[in-house]
Amino acid sequence: MQSKFIETLGYADVAQEKQITPWEVQGELTDTDYQKVAREFGAKIIDPELTEMIRSAAGEVHPYITNGTFFAHRDLDMLLSDYRSGKRFYLYTGRGPSGKMHLGHLIPFIFTKWLQDRFGADLLIQITDDEKFLFRDLEMEDIRKYTEENILDILSLGFRPENTHIIVDSEQAGILYNQAIRVARHINVSLARDVFGFSDSDNVGKFFFTSMQAVPAFLIPALTGRDERCLIPYAIDQDPHFLVARDVLPKIGYRKPSSIISKFMPALKGSGKMSSSDPNSGIYLDDDPKTVRKKMMKYAFSGGRATAEEQRKFGAVPEIDFAYNIYKLLEPDQGKVRKVYEEYRRGALLSGEMKQIATDKINEFLEELRARREEVRSEVDAYRFSIDKVMR
Ligand code: TYM
Repeated sequence: MQSKFIETLGYADVAQEKQITPWEVQGELTDTDYQKVAREFGAKIIDPELTEMIRSAAGEVHPYITNGTFFAHRDLDMLLSDYRSGKRFYLYTGRGPSGKMHLGHLIPFIFTKWLQDRFGADLLIQITDDEKFLFRDLEMEDIRKYTEENILDILSLGFRPENTHIIVDSEQAGILYNQAIRVARHINVSLARDVFGFSDSDNVGKFFFTSMQAVPAFLIPALTGRDERCLIPYAIDQDPHFLVARDVLPKIGYRKPSSIISKFMPALKGSGKMSSSDPNSGIYLDDDPKTVRKKMMKYAFSGGRATAEEQRKFGAVPEIDFAYNIYKLLEPDQGKVRKVYEEYRRGALLSGEMKQIATDKINEFLEELRARREEVRSEVDAYRFSIDKVMR
């Protein structure tokens, strides 16, 4: 799918080549690519001043901000200054249930959980089963299965039931549809075509869908009348949806949502996308310890040198190393992360050793997740969206 919107941004080098749309991102993006894309999408880079604002509001800064994983935002400064003057906000993020989840999908959720804990905010989690029906060659039966599985995966991160609201689009169609049509009235075909790259042969449901993804960004004010801002964490592929939402919402009487935007966790092999059609393209949440080890040892893209001697002499480039990058995302102790970075960079750690460290970390993380997943299985209903629950 070729996005004309992206073409018109003049990013022949970055956005056309990598084709950033909510449905595909091809190729790896460098830090410079990310900065360019964010700027051209009209988002702002998170600077030290904003980082300090986050620290003072939250009491600490999440490592995903300090290590540049969440690197851009829209109107987060405004939301935080309102928060400082006593105004509440709520959080919104989501998942399209098209298959098993990989570690990359968890990044926005891990970060969102931190935000929920630090700010005690309500959280809407939208599960866009309708999106996957319209955009993928999948039957509703399969999508329902992934919906249930993915919800367990997400909840195993430990969200709070009392202020977490899971909205499955097809289950809450009555509520969502009535709001989505208000958005849809302000999106014409040519805008949808330009932003998302649709063509005449795309089904009409695709043109409508972004209206559904916009709804949770104003659902709390729409249902409760509370004037709360909305903060949406996501990886940059989802940004086009919220560009449209920010354009439309003021036209129907709501504030523009704020967002905080992350980079992509790179694919296991260093290039291409993590995709369920290639099980070796990423680490999946149900990979057992042996599978993780095998994938890491065999496929993980290394930033180390060709031989142990060269590695000892010249050191690695941790920034491009899958094992280091995943370790950095899963190890909360920043002192340990810095130590591993230094040792690997100067050659004290070899590539195989780095992979071993990351493998142990991944397995430890997945084991914990799986244990909690079984615990939340019987509690899922407590997390489901209902009007009564959001009115409380
Ligand atoms: P989905 O299911 O494709 O992805 C879920 C979330 O994971 C992010 N993501 C990644 N983050 C880091 N590294 C990766 N490799 C990676 N791959 C995906 C996505 O940006 C997303 O945040 N249409 C959406 C579902 C949705 C949504 C939302 C997402 C509905 N409302 C609001 C974010 C915010 C989708 O299909 O996401």
